[in-house]
Amino acid sequence: MKLPISKRLLQCAEMIPPCRTVADVGTDHGYLGVYLLQAGRCAHVIASDLREKPLASARANAAAFSVQDRMSFVLSDGLHHIKPGSFDVLVLAGMGGDLIARILADAPWLDGDNALLILQPQSAANDLRRALGARGWRIEQERLVRDGQFLYAVMAVRTEGGGPLTPGEQYVSPALRRAQDALYPAYLARMRRALELTVRGISRSADPADLARAAYYRAALTEVAALEAGEADTDKPKADEALAPSSAERSLL
Ligand SMILES: C[S@@+](CC[C@H](N)C(=O)[O-])C[C@H]1O[C@@H](n2cnc3c(N)ncnc32)[C@H](O)[C@@H]1O
Repeated sequence: MKLPISKRLLQCAEMIPPCRTVADVGTDHGYLGVYLLQAGRCAHVIASDLREKPLASARANAAAFSVQDRMSFVLSDGLHHIKPGSFDVLVLAGMGGDLIARILADAPWLDGDNALLILQPQSAANDLRRALGARGWRIEQERLVRDGQFLYAVMAVRTEGGGPLTPGEQYVSPALRRAQDALYPAYLARMRRALELTVRGISRSADPADLARAAYYRAALTEVAALEAGEADTDKPKADEALAPSSAERSLL
């Protein structure tokens, strides 16, 4: 039987170095943990979820792929029932960026922990990057992966060595710029178009709260558009896909 793991989760796995224990919080089916154990990337996986049903599914999959002896299963809201120091790598994948940020904020002990964090937000990646920077954490590496019609960013984060990010950097991190993935031009175009839509929408709003937020989005748009223009000036080959604005673009905001 072949493990039905997504390209998105494979990208997360690729960014995990050989290690002892990986904690996969919000594991659902548990495929990432099964894959890491099968690949010999780690010795043990803590698979954790907020709900019983996904955890039962992770347990069943671990048994089906004969890795249950090397996986433990924890019912937990975020990291509440995960012991500090019990893992080398923490994965939070397939959840909204705001939820990932909330789970991390609820675990202040992570600041003194040496763990590597692999974060893959489904939405609100800018809010997550802002929270990471504000906490003094550093996005060490950031890569892009296309899975179906969606484009995902996967971040490897260290809990030290960072600082506040500009509005533009919250959409396109310095690590993403450095990586120069083949999908980078497509990602820049998506961010720029999504920000244009947001700025246009917010400009029509009469809500004073929107007016305050407008400055943030305008600043982000200016930075991202400048990055995109810089890219267009280079001779690098561009991803040749059609880039019609889509709900996926909106969901990245
Ligand atoms: C969409 S699934 C993602 C599964 C897997 N990580 C992936 O990327 O394919 C999100 C999972 O996160 C779990 N979840 C949601 N909120 C959570 C929380 N506060 N703590 C732990 N797990 C949570 C859900 O129950 C669900 O199983």
